[in-house]
Parts: sequence; C-alpha cells; structure tokens
Amino acid sequence: MSAEPVILGIESSCDDTSIAILKGHQILANVVANQKVHAEFGGVVPELASRAHQQNIVPALTVALKKANIDVSELDAIAYTRGPGLMGSLLVGSSFAKGLSISLDIPLIEVHHMKAHILAHMISDNASTPSYPFICLTVSGGHTQLIIVRSAHDMEVIGQTIDDAAGEAFDKAAKMLGLPYPGGPLIDKYAKEGDPSSHLFNAGKVEGYDFSFSGFKTSVLYYLKKQVEKDSQFIEKEMNNLCATIQSTILDALFLKLEKIVNESGIKEVAIAGGVSANSGLRSRLKEKEQDGWTVHIPKFEYCTDNAAMIAMAGHYEYLGNKIGALNAAPKARMEW
Ligand code: KG4
Ligand code: ZN
Repeated sequence: MSAEPVILGIESSCDDTSIAILKGHQILANVVANQKVHAEFGGVVPELASRAHQQNIVPALTVALKKANIDVSELDAIAYTRGPGLMGSLLVGSSFAKGLSISLDIPLIEVHHMKAHILAHMISDNASTPSYPFICLTVSGGHTQLIIVRSAHDMEVIGQTIDDAAGEAFDKAAKMLGLPYPGGPLIDKYAKEGDPSSHLFNAGKVEGYDFSFSGFKTSVLYYLKKQVEKDSQFIEKEMNNLCATIQSTILDALFLKLEKIVNESGIKEVAIAGGVSANSGLRSRLKEKEQDGWTVHIPKFEYCTDNAAMIAMAGHYEYLGNKIGALNAAPKARMEW
C-alpha cells in the first residue's frame, strides 16, 4: 500500500456517469457525463439512464486517466457505488468496477452513495473541512437526512423525510411551473429575481427531526390550479415570485430541523451535502448562521451533485480500513445505512 493510495471512483446510481481519480485526499480527475436525455420526460427514465451509462462509462474512464495523467497500473483500488439508486444504472457501474478490479488485480470497494455525499467534504480542494463530530444536512433528489457524523465510519441518521425528498420537492414544483427536469437549478435561478413573501405555501409539519414535503407539493398544485383558472398567464407572469416562494418554503422546512438539532445537540460544526446543497439560497442562509456561532462547511459546487470524486473519497476510507468488497456482491437499489 502506497502512503497516498490512488483510488478510481465510479458513480452511476442515477443519471450522471462519473469517473474520478483520487490520490490521498487530492482529486486528479473528476469526469461527469450528464444525461440530457431525461429533460423532455420531466424526470429520469431508468431504461434510458442505463443505456446512457453504457455509452458513457468507457469514454469517461479514458478522459479521467488522461486528465490525471496516470496509467491504470498506478491504481491501488476501484471504488464504486453499490447503492442506493436505480438498479439498471447501478448494474452498469458495478459490473464495470468488477471487470476493472479483476483485470487489474486490485481490490474492489463498495461505497454507500449517501455516505459518499457527506465524505465529499474531506476532498482537499474544498474551502474547509469539517472536524468530527459534525452535523450534516444531506439533501438530494432521493434523500433528505439529518446526520451526526462522528467519523468516516460512524454516521447516525437522526431524522429523514417521511415522503418526498427536498430535491424532489424542487423538481416536482418546477414541473408544475412547466420547467424541464431537473427543475431545482432553474427554481434557484428564477428565485434570485423574485420576492419570497409574494405567495404562501404549506411547509408541511412533522414531529421531531423528520421532514415531510408531500403537503407542500399538494399546496403548490392546488394554488396554481386556482390562480390559472382566473388568469391563464399567471405562471408566466409570476414565475420569479413563485420560484422565490417555493425555494424559501423548502429552505424554511430544512432550517427548522437543522436549527433544532444544532440547539439540542450543542454541535455547532455544520455541513450540507447532496445535489440541493448546490442551491444558492441554502448556501447563503447557512453562511448567515456563522453569526450564531456555527462553523459552516459548504462543499465545492462540483462535489454537491452526483460525482465520482466523492465515491473515490469514501472508497479511500474503506481502503484504509481494509474493508474490501466482494466480487459477487449485487447492487442495492435500497441500501441499509
Ligand atoms: O445528489 P444529486 O445530484 O442526485 C441524487 O442523488 O439524487 O441531487 C439531484 C437533486 C435534483 O433534485 C436537483 O433538482 C437538485 O439536486 N438540485 C438543486 C440545485 N442543483 C441541483 N436543487 C435546488 N437548487 C439547485 N441549485
Ligand atoms: Zn446523490
């Protein structure tokens, strides 16, 4: 084992095909092939995602090796996303990882996609690195979780959504506004020009540290229906204000629980992770919490949405812990924590 292991990361859990190469904590390459094919369908089409992974994965590896300027013989291990995710998508990445591991005769490492989102903070070119223990709000297209992170191998889920994820709430609201998938980044863009107090949506109430966004979704749906009946141009005219209100309602729900856990646990080291952590409103609201004595950690933009850099980073810790994966392990659409 070299002092700074070189890990190849493979991510294919949803609609991004990504290959990264990590040396120690330093990213040498992080190639992400986005799949534009889903935009017109209003969501990820699993069958199309698997096919696109098949087409993109070999070119992504070729580009990553070239960018990192290394030969496959220099790799110490192959880390891949075992789950959670879309089964067809996961199968492409896991089969490719196994083939590489066998042909190069190096260890195969299984990575949990959501843990990897959190460990993306440990990549060296982030603005800051959290120290343990820290609280992480992990918000993506499929998950919304509050986690106490005590080490790379000790993460406790304190709360999570009981229905839709925050990213799903963004995407579904965007779809109701007629915006293409994924709508989260577009809501973020239009929200910058809008007034967040111009409309009123139900934030959804749930006990403890859990979240719920299904009531919010219904409230947006009924409100838009009512207003469009009165004025068919309502959405076009009000787009910026609607986006600003949608965004601030989702962020209010997230911050309510984030503030609760920080106050009750006394842990003021706070990080965000997952695709929705790319949201500019979330990033600036978290930054403001520094005034309350929080130490906040916001990942580099490219480590927020799905990427293989985070898979390689999580793989690094597994490799150091000698946690080697099995060649006969099947991917897991739902993966235990
Ligand atoms: O982590 P991620 O790339 O994939 C999953 O593991 O789900 O997260 C994707 C989610 C999508 O719902 C997308 O709309 C959302 O992250 N997202 C955003 C922004 N960028 C991505 N949501 C709000 N504002 C953004 N700027
Ligand atoms: Zn993700």
